[in-house]
Amino acid sequence: MNQELWSDVDAYLVQTLAKEAADLEWVLATNAAAGLPAIDVSPAQGKLLQLLVRMSSAARVLEIGTLGGYSTIWMAQALPVAGLIITLEADSHHADVAQSNFERANLEHLIELREGPATDSLELLVSEGGDLFDLMFIDADKPNNPTYFEYCMDLTRPGGFVLFDNVIREGRIIDESSDDDRVLGVRSLFEMIRDDTRVSATAIQTVGAKGHDGFLLLRVNE
Ligand code: SAH
Ligand code: DHB
Ligand code: MG
Repeated sequence: MNQELWSDVDAYLVQTLAKEAADLEWVLATNAAAGLPAIDVSPAQGKLLQLLVRMSSAARVLEIGTLGGYSTIWMAQALPVAGLIITLEADSHHADVAQSNFERANLEHLIELREGPATDSLELLVSEGGDLFDLMFIDADKPNNPTYFEYCMDLTRPGGFVLFDNVIREGRIIDESSDDDRVLGVRSLFEMIRDDTRVSATAIQTVGAKGHDGFLLLRVNE
């Protein structure tokens, strides 16, 4: 374990490369003051999300798991003027804090927050039959990841991308005998993707301010 080193390196990277993170420190401070758990993406990861929105020229983004909207705000800053992020949050207190943050950031015109269990909101999105999404960021309850993956296949456009957070969990995901629901959710997700010819995927382990974890990235084949 080298958490102190990982955090120091992360601080250096953010100070040199992602300086605009300083402009969003108020979001993290607001979330902490409101009693939200500090499980937002790190500043360096937020910048990565923002760059992924730009790299994919995404105009329609779907996020599952808003918390206080820190990741949402990083992504919204990269949207075109007619862009939209729909973000799903089950906890009404988290949703209230996030909505107030979106307004303070002057980004509320780009963000539609839907409150309620994500599976309900996803079912509604499918039945609404709106435009497909260019990019999805899945960062909610990990046991539901297999369910969210199925919705991703229905809601992401061919050629679109899906990013899952927290797929490494300090390496616990390779423990075949784990009885942790979150680990099992990630392992089931990986097995579904292994057997699914509709997607092309990889995962990258990360260390940093948030410990040893990682992202799963997949592209929906055309
Ligand atoms: N993406 C955020 C962090 C999300 S933390 C960021 O990086 O800033 C995970 C969030 O998912 C929490 O706010 C939690 O309340 C929410 N969540 C958990 N289960 C959920 C569910 N079934 N439906 C919708 N949201 C859920
Ligand atoms: C947890 C959830 C997250 O999305 C995260 O980034 C870190 C931790 C959690 O539920 O413990
Ligand atoms: Mg996360």
